[in-house]
Amino acid sequence: MQASLSGYSDRAMRTLARQFGCELTFSGVMLDKSVCYKPFLRKIFHKIRDDEHPVGSQLLGTDPKTMTQAAINLCDAGYDIVDLNFACPAPKVLRRGRGGAMLDKPRQVIEILRAVKDAVKKPVMMKLRIGVDDSSASHEDFLQICEEAVAEGVDALIIHGRTVSQVFRGHADWNIVAEIKKQYPQAVIIGSGDLFNAADIVDKLKTSGADGVAIARGAIGKPWIFRQIKELLEGHLPVEKIYQPDIKEQGQIILEHFSLLTELYEPKKSVWYFRKFLSHYGRSHDQPGKVRRELVMAKDEAALMDTIKKWYGV
Ligand SMILES: Cc1cc2nc3c(=O)[nH]c(=O)nc-3n(C[C@H](O)[C@H](O)[C@H](O)COP(=O)(O)O)c2cc1C
Repeated sequence: MQASLSGYSDRAMRTLARQFGCELTFSGVMLDKSVCYKPFLRKIFHKIRDDEHPVGSQLLGTDPKTMTQAAINLCDAGYDIVDLNFACPAPKVLRRGRGGAMLDKPRQVIEILRAVKDAVKKPVMMKLRIGVDDSSASHEDFLQICEEAVAEGVDALIIHGRTVSQVFRGHADWNIVAEIKKQYPQAVIIGSGDLFNAADIVDKLKTSGADGVAIARGAIGKPWIFRQIKELLEGHLPVEKIYQPDIKEQGQIILEHFSLLTELYEPKKSVWYFRKFLSHYGRSHDQPGKVRRELVMAKDEAALMDTIKKWYGV
């Protein structure tokens, strides 16, 4: 799966992921109150392309009623899945008791899950970190949430093997993903964390026994990672032979991504917004330092096209 990535996993990124064989993509997280405000979902960003399905949405909130109404609105807008975010470690989210801060309130988390599941006919999943911190009380809360969520019939759990207080430090603990899958073989368990290259991802998938993986940072500026994973899973190719776009193909993918973005943003905004992707795309070039610098310096569309032509020959 293409993981939820705030500020990245918009329709353009999701469409590219699908083109490279990704089976399920997610929007970035949305605040329940915003989604309850009807005009919000009429914005162009929430128009789902016909070739994009299945596409999941993700919600952040603390109140079962507001979360339920928001989930209904997302399903009406065409999203195929509702994922409930109890994982986000951003300080502004935690300050309001949302996201990862909910992990020490198992009862409230399950109340939200139950209310949303009762109200929508589409699959409802939950995104979790493994606790607020590394205390045993926090670990117990996490285990309780998993147990009760499975008992409530949650359609899948996405587990990022870090605590909230770890943010992105240290390594994601894949043993916990494996333990939860072993404990609840009947549940769909998706692993997340430190998924950067295809061979390692396939290894984590197989050794953890997880039903799937959610690729996050590893897919930014590298949408072809989904094809590489598929090729490895199909088992016909050794790792040295899996798809690796040459420079020209990389240039074509960058152009395609930019063109998809211009469906969503004004040209000037597209160039500005695209910079964060360009700096990642540039890493796969033979001369990453120079290429990244020049790509992110392009001040308008014409300059960007010239730079892409210069370095990628397209
Ligand atoms: C820029 C950025 C934005 C993210 N936005 C979301 C989000 O909206 N919802 C969510 O559940 N996780 C979000 N995440 C977390 C990722 O989905 C993923 O769980 C995490 O990055 C661990 O995977 P990785 O180490 O392979 O990147 C975000 C991560 C990053 C780096």
